[in-house]
Amino acid sequence: METHRPDRCRHIVPYRGKIRREDRERLLGQKSFVLWFTGLSGSGKSTIAHRLEEELHARGKLTYVFDGDNIRSGLCSDLSFSPQARAENLRRVAEVIKLFLDAGVICFAAFISPFESERRKVREMINCDAFYEIYVKCPLEVCEARDVKGLYRLAREGKIKNYTGISSPYEEPTSPDLVVDTEKLTVEESINLLLSFLYQKKLL
Ligand code: PPS
Repeated sequence: METHRPDRCRHIVPYRGKIRREDRERLLGQKSFVLWFTGLSGSGKSTIAHRLEEELHARGKLTYVFDGDNIRSGLCSDLSFSPQARAENLRRVAEVIKLFLDAGVICFAAFISPFESERRKVREMINCDAFYEIYVKCPLEVCEARDVKGLYRLAREGKIKNYTGISSPYEEPTSPDLVVDTEKLTVEESINLLLSFLYQKKLL
């Protein structure tokens, strides 16, 4: 398996403290896990991730949502939407999620993450038994009709390059852990589906 460890790190010996992830989880009274939401722009990833976070927060869980637009306003503000830049975006996010998991935090990632190979890579990098890929499924026509941010229109006018679904591909997940069909389900129904999923996996 690929190690993702560049050669210039060969003289780095990570320090292993006495306090482990399990100790932090015990302190928090929870088990950390990752839900990785993938889907087209406008499919509802952010809405669902943030609403689910509210539900878990109300149940006393420590959570954090990693959201594409927010991460791209800071940590990844130097990156474009070329395939290479998208891969780097997700690599950085995966590294930060590893730290949050080690801190015992429940993590929700909401990124288009359009390429199957990159989604597989982040799963490998994060290397957590409790990593679940959630496909937020919604047809392009519906996302485009919603056009919440007006970016589909700009992409159609050629004013945004490499726009997912228009001028850059979205590879549908072939074996997601859960599909949330936001064309058919309301936000509340989607949240109930996710809560049932988490109970079934004994994560809540
Ligand atoms: S990726 O592919 O996973 O690196 O994308 P992500 O970090 O999730 O960022 C997606 C949000 O950025 C806005 N945006 C674009 N998306 C796709 N293609 C292009 N060219 C683009 N330019 C800007 C868009 O609003 C996405 O937000 P969401 O929340 O997905 O609608």
